[in-house]
Amino acid sequence: MRPALRKGVLVLHLLSVGGWIGIDVLVGALVLAGTLGDPATAGLAYRALGSFVVVPMLTAALASLATGLLLGLGTKWGLARYWWVLVKLGLTLVLTVLIVVALRPGMPEVVLHGEQLAAGLVPEGDVSELVFPPIVSLVVLSLATVLSVYKPWGRTRR
Ligand code: HEM
Repeated sequence: MRPALRKGVLVLHLLSVGGWIGIDVLVGALVLAGTLGDPATAGLAYRALGSFVVVPMLTAALASLATGLLLGLGTKWGLARYWWVLVKLGLTLVLTVLIVVALRPGMPEVVLHGEQLAAGLVPEGDVSELVFPPIVSLVVLSLATVLSVYKPWGRTRR
């Protein structure tokens, strides 16, 4: 990859990753508002969370993955040549799959929960497990950032 192209892809990589982290922080704030706010605020927070979050989050995840793959394939780092890249690839794949199989299917229930709260009803469902996705994702993305900067563990056997 020519230096100018590499820098351009690296900028896109950092913007995608930064966007993903920002969306996770927003999810954390919405979960907090849903848990601690009065029923009207909580209802709004859960409806926003259930309606608008998954698509931008998945887009940012796929963009991070795609730009990361391009950087790996197009530079000396490779995809399976250095542990820090290989581990980041694994972590990013796991998080991306979790968005699709664990987060997305629960979103209609989160919207319903918000609608019931906003209508002054006592919701039947339990959405307390929503605290985990932003915590897990932010911890993993922070770890990936640390790996990217320190580049530990050297080369793999390949
Ligand atoms: C979503 C989690 C990720 C985060 C937080 C992340 C973060 C970063 C950061 C901060 C850098 C800049 C490091 C520097 O310039 O010293 C970087 C570069 C890089 N990332 Fe990622 N990344 C992620 C995912 C990936 C994935 C999935 C791959 C590969 C499949 C990848 C491959 C690379 C490569 C090869 C570079 C070096 C680019 C270069 O200097 O030419 N990243 N990443």
